Amino acid sequence: MRVYAVKDYREMSRKAANILSAQIISKPDSVLGLATGSTPIGTYEQLVEWYEKGDLDFSEVRTVNLDEYKGLDKENKQSYYYFMHRHLFDRVNIPQEQTHLPDGTNAEAEKECRRYEELMESLGGIDIQLLGMGHNGHIGFNEPAEAFAKETHCVDLQESTIQANKRFFESAEEVPRQAYTMGIGTILRAVRILVIVSGEDKADIVKKAFWGPITPQVPASILQLHPDVILVADEAALSKV
Ligand code: GLP
Repeated sequence: MRVYAVKDYREMSRKAANILSAQIISKPDSVLGLATGSTPIGTYEQLVEWYEKGDLDFSEVRTVNLDEYKGLDKENKQSYYYFMHRHLFDRVNIPQEQTHLPDGTNAEAEKECRRYEELMESLGGIDIQLLGMGHNGHIGFNEPAEAFAKETHCVDLQESTIQANKRFFESAEEVPRQAYTMGIGTILRAVRILVIVSGEDKADIVKKAFWGPITPQVPASILQLHPDVILVADEAALSKV
């Protein structure tokens, strides 16, 4: 694992955007695995800025997102579909049909998960997967569990995740209880993985995930076994390492 220790959120965002840009420039039709949450917003902003300056071209890029709430339609402002369009897709020249997320409106979980796995396979796999991390070590919506989930699946969100994500909703009651997420196996198949973490509130989990034992109780800890992981974290997030 390569660790880039940076000063703050802004530097983390710039470094992550640099790494993603290098990928797009060296392979214009790259398959980018993308993430939501507050952590990647600055990275997307930086990419948009460079696109607007004419330094980046997304016309051939393909994207697959990690996860989506089950039951939220695309117009719902809390859906990850809406998030991705607002922060990135509607602001760069990526053709809409080259962007993919699990379909939260498909009530048939098994079918939807199979469709998403097949889709990723048909794209030839993920070149680089961007990841944030939850306070309990979840990646995508892979919550702490007895075992690592291999493929895209439907999960019941943990109470702590519902509480952490309720800030985006009117109330905790409105946070969906289920989501579709790539599995740990899906994530590990990415050629390269880029993890971004910022803030003191993530310091404990960063230490556990990257310097602690590998266990499904800390889903991100499995990343220690991947041959090409880049961790970009700010001083506050690395303060307990
Ligand atoms: C959500 C997302 C994750 C994300 C996590 C952390 O649960 N499904 O992909 O990594 O939140 O979010 P934040 O970056 O806001 O701390």
